[in-house]
Amino acid sequence: MDKLIISGGRPLEGRVEVSGAKNSALPLIAACLLTRDTVTLENLPAVRDIRTLLGLLQVLGAEADTDFSSPARRASICADRLKSVVAPYDLVKTMRASVLVLGPLLAREGKARVSMPGGCAIGTRPINLHLKGFEKLGARVSSDHGYVDVAAPRLQGAEIYFDMVTVTGTENLMMAATLAEGQTVLRNAAQEPEITDLAHLLNAMGARIQGAGTPVITIQGVERLGGARHRIIPDRIEAGTFLMAGAITRGDVVIGRCVPAHLSAFIQKLSEAGVPVDQLDETTVRVRPGSRLQACDMITQPYPGFATDMQAQYMSLMTQADGVAVLTENIFENRFMHVGELLRMGADIKVDGRQAIVRGKTPLAGANVLASDLRASACLILAALVADGETCIDRIYHLDRGYERIEEKLQALGATISRKA
Ligand code: EPU
Repeated sequence: MDKLIISGGRPLEGRVEVSGAKNSALPLIAACLLTRDTVTLENLPAVRDIRTLLGLLQVLGAEADTDFSSPARRASICADRLKSVVAPYDLVKTMRASVLVLGPLLAREGKARVSMPGGCAIGTRPINLHLKGFEKLGARVSSDHGYVDVAAPRLQGAEIYFDMVTVTGTENLMMAATLAEGQTVLRNAAQEPEITDLAHLLNAMGARIQGAGTPVITIQGVERLGGARHRIIPDRIEAGTFLMAGAITRGDVVIGRCVPAHLSAFIQKLSEAGVPVDQLDETTVRVRPGSRLQACDMITQPYPGFATDMQAQYMSLMTQADGVAVLTENIFENRFMHVGELLRMGADIKVDGRQAIVRGKTPLAGANVLASDLRASACLILAALVADGETCIDRIYHLDRGYERIEEKLQALGATISRKA
């Protein structure tokens, strides 16, 4: 199993380019199941979750012509003839986002059978809101032997109110509703940029979606969808991770090929903490060393709030800030697994339910640590970048699910980091 070896202590300097958004690419790939025509996606990140989902589409009968080597990072996906509507356990257990095939398969084939994703390192993560939504659209939902079945001859448009904001739930229902008969209105919908990106692709395929990016999304069902070509938005969590990496090392880092508007919550929090971030142009931001780093409380919320996917990285930063910061995790009930590892490196953090109280500034010391999930891995990298001595991060297969070549990008910024098999 690969490990990362990091020697801390050097401020990062230079320019880094952000890859395409993993959490956009996943629903966009699933959306290819809605049409018999070819959909070409560009700017795909070369990360494992993308390969896993492309593998699942192939199991279902789609063909994918991929080119991850060229700068275009392209996949042309054709789901002309599907041979299965079953997402098997072996694939779903490696990646929960496999449930994104439910909506498209149900809408196009009238049925789908997907292994129920279990809980994961960050929470129980049920899919009840996806299923309730499908029922509202007229589907029968049943489950047996760890699988969930959804079936409907033709979905019927409906009013769907989400009890909680759910990102993949909104995506699944939006995809299903594109081919339903009549109008569907999604209320309390997620407003993440990834939702808007999906709506852009679906509309380019012939769907009639309005309001994506707001809490109310209206979808007029159509008879069929066709092919399209679409460029995936930059990964705001990767960009945010580099912002925090610059800030924690007191470095000077230019982050290119990003959408600064998607980073507002992170940029504002950094400036409250005393870290200057400048927007250089429409796709570039720069993080510079400030005179001091001040502790600031933070609460995770659905977009446009501060993303839960940046909570762990922000926690590393707060270990180096002067004062006490209270971090409240509102989205997932168990997303503090990284705390134990940060403590082993010398941090002073207490967890009380959904809150973590971080007392800074504490010197961190390199240690052997274990990554428990994708964003926890990024948090440990940031801590290692300022720790005294060498840190060895084990179980970085989590990291490879969602960050493209992160050690190469960090090396280019001057970090001492290498991968060991
Ligand atoms: N929830 C339910 N029932 C549902 C759906 C969600 O109770 O049917 C709860 C969840 O348990 C959680 C909350 O609602 O407490 C929000 O979950 P959401 O459904 O929004 O999460 P998700 O769609 O499963 C996506 C991202 C996550 C990201 C969350 C929150 C993808 C593929 N995944 O997950 O990304 O943390 O939204 O923003 O888009 C990551 O990239 O590291 C990652 C975990």
